[in-house]
Amino acid sequence: MADITEAPEWSALADHQAALAGRHLRELFADDPGRAERMTVTAGDLRLDYSKHRVTAETLGLLVSLAERAGLRERIAAMFTGVHINVSEDRAVLHTALRLPPGEPLTVDGQDVAADVHAVLDRMAEFSGRVRAGEWTGFTGKSITTVVNIGIGGSDLGPAMAYEALLDYADAGISCRFVSNIDPADIVGTLAGLDPERTLFVISSKTFGTLETLTNAKVARQWLVDRLGDDKAVSRHFVAVSTNAERVAGFGIDTANMFGFWDWVGGRYSFDGAIGLSLMIAIGGEAFREMLAGFREIDEHLRTAPFEANMPVLMGLLGVWYTDFFGAQTRAVLPYSQRLSRFPAYLQQLTMESNGKSVRADGAPVVAQTGEIFWGEPGTNGQHAFYQLLHQGTRLVPADFIGFAEPFEDPAGMHDLLVANLLAQTSALAFGKTAEEIAAEGAPAAVVPHKVMPGNRPTSTILAPKLTPKVLGELVALYEHIVFVEGTIWGIDSFDQWGVELGKVMAMDLAPALTSEEPPSGAPDPSTAALVREYRRMRG
Ligand code: F6P
Repeated sequence: MADITEAPEWSALADHQAALAGRHLRELFADDPGRAERMTVTAGDLRLDYSKHRVTAETLGLLVSLAERAGLRERIAAMFTGVHINVSEDRAVLHTALRLPPGEPLTVDGQDVAADVHAVLDRMAEFSGRVRAGEWTGFTGKSITTVVNIGIGGSDLGPAMAYEALLDYADAGISCRFVSNIDPADIVGTLAGLDPERTLFVISSKTFGTLETLTNAKVARQWLVDRLGDDKAVSRHFVAVSTNAERVAGFGIDTANMFGFWDWVGGRYSFDGAIGLSLMIAIGGEAFREMLAGFREIDEHLRTAPFEANMPVLMGLLGVWYTDFFGAQTRAVLPYSQRLSRFPAYLQQLTMESNGKSVRADGAPVVAQTGEIFWGEPGTNGQHAFYQLLHQGTRLVPADFIGFAEPFEDPAGMHDLLVANLLAQTSALAFGKTAEEIAAEGAPAAVVPHKVMPGNRPTSTILAPKLTPKVLGELVALYEHIVFVEGTIWGIDSFDQWGVELGKVMAMDLAPALTSEEPPSGAPDPSTAALVREYRRMRG
């Protein structure tokens, strides 16, 4: 595998960047007033305006050529057909199979995975329907009013983000809570005030071997048994989502109440399958399937749209453009929707666990920068916090703005103000305000430089009609595929996460030293050994 940075398309982009870097978005718009119209692409219900990027038609042509050179077309086909593109774990990468339409078979490694997916979805729908209808009752015969999902990483962030996003669709009087952290404050705070007779725990863990999840699940089980006074209560109040039936049974959960998935679904790509059980209980099987239809629409778009009009391809290539040719370190994701308040956190795992890699898929070190750092907060809160740096700081921070035309409730006409802020921000970031304009407004000369808004700060604007289940599916699939496009250009394996392992092992080695009377022997270095001693002293 040749390094992409040695390709002529890479050098062509580097030369082009040198020529374009000094040009301001004001000039690009003045030279080409039609760019706003032309640099707009739709996919499903999503409409992307990328005209406020530091690109011209030539840039886009060069980026698309880079994608062709990196074999993106072939990689897309390979992913969708189940080739083992997760090379370090020798696995297919088939989250797209989680949203195949019923009746469309997909045979991978000799198995019709689509049939397996629909069998699980049907079981989830049947179970959720019973919980929602009050037919699945707790040990004392009472219906369920709270679902507590215990999981971490992909087994938490996906359903937690989506539950919050689709709160307006939670129509069965069942609320969800999410516990993830090994910090006792998380489980203790979550259980406080819950009625054990009406609480269902969904223990979500792909491996069913994750310390945080199993520890929290044990605390929850003890809490339940202490209050209901009988071990037998566990089977009515605990269900599991996992790929590992043996460990689920070992924990004491009846595997009849286990919902499975497969090693070809990465944890961070899994909430549109069984990991979304808590979400499905809240919003119902029908709304869940609408969400899957949204995912599917973007999958089809990725597969079939020409690269020039392909939203995830364009957004992925723009990520590479700023990361590798402008030296940008981060990308802000700024949803103008309170309901998407967990979306940046969700995207952090999706993007950074996927593309935070320093070696290529063949094990050779990467030469290009990889892995954008994703971060963000909902607008307008961010405006009153960190946007100062976006507007006038020395760093280039490309940003994705996400907005919706229709709110769910708007008693005081606030929604138009929300959207006006989104639009104002992208305009100010792109065009800024010059010293002449500020002086003409009468600002004292000494203050003028402080008020200059440099502009030329690139943004994408994604608009959709409303945050429905389908639109949420579209948004998530969009970012899943952006990650894939970037990973393909960089030549990395976006589907493993070896970098999280060492810390887990070391924590288990260190844990006994924190409570022992003996001098810490497991501490790996003098600094950590001293911290262990200090911790023990402070704890008394
Ligand atoms: O530590 C990282 C990770 O492996 C994630 O990739 C995963 O989503 C999370 O832990 C939880 O893993 P599991 O679902 O197996 O408990």
